[in-house]
Amino acid sequence: MTAPASKAPRYIAHRGLSARAPENTLAAVQAAYDAGCEWVELDVQLLGDGTPVIWHDAGIKRCSDGRGKLVKLDAESAAKLDAGSWFGAQYRGEAMATLEAMLALIQRLGMGLNLELKVCRGRNAIELVQAALPPTLEALPAEKLIVSSFDRHALTAARALESDPDRLRLGVLDDKAPKRWWLETERLSAYSLHLDWRKLKIKRAQEIADEEIKLFCYTANDPVTFEKLWDWGVDGVISDDPTRFVVHAGEAAA
Ligand code: G3P
Ligand code: MG
Repeated sequence: MTAPASKAPRYIAHRGLSARAPENTLAAVQAAYDAGCEWVELDVQLLGDGTPVIWHDAGIKRCSDGRGKLVKLDAESAAKLDAGSWFGAQYRGEAMATLEAMLALIQRLGMGLNLELKVCRGRNAIELVQAALPPTLEALPAEKLIVSSFDRHALTAARALESDPDRLRLGVLDDKAPKRWWLETERLSAYSLHLDWRKLKIKRAQEIADEEIKLFCYTANDPVTFEKLWDWGVDGVISDDPTRFVVHAGEAAA
């Protein structure tokens, strides 16, 4: 059983508009919206106290003024971090976003969300799904949400929590499609495959395009190099700056 066909997002801003604002923050989503993006991709994980937050790494050093592991934080200590200054002085004081705050913003802006369930080494996939998925399903309509993960336990738990593929669109994330990729997508009643565009071959892309399943590629920032992938049947691109693709398309038509 596969999810019914629907219009797939063509451009998804990776970790928000991460080329221009600190990744995975409210500012990055606002920047994506201001730049005309309709969809964002964001990573969700749990703090040590079980609070879902929008964060990519297992550690906090790269994208904040703190040190150590995300799992060592609780909501109170996380709220004190500056998750903006590392990117630029104008973002000083930007907070690590909780999932709750992020959903409220996305809801208010009417954007689409590709939420990636990020299961770092040693973390519990089921716990993440149980904490992050119900509020997300509650906040957003099904056509404005795709939940993806590299972690098969997380995807399985998500499908167990919501069995109807019309109400929860799941995306199978991988660097390249497994040989018999359809076994995985069928088992999960998945909506989409999310693959690394640099590892995609024409035969595999066309094979996927021939099926109901949507195909998204990450993380592409060069529209010229990416051009041939549209011809191969790719449905959408996950990019740090989707506006580059749109501007390029306009230029090509001129
Ligand atoms: O969802 C696509 C992409 O975000 C997967 O890789 O490491 O950027 O989360 P990563
Ligand atoms: Mg991601």
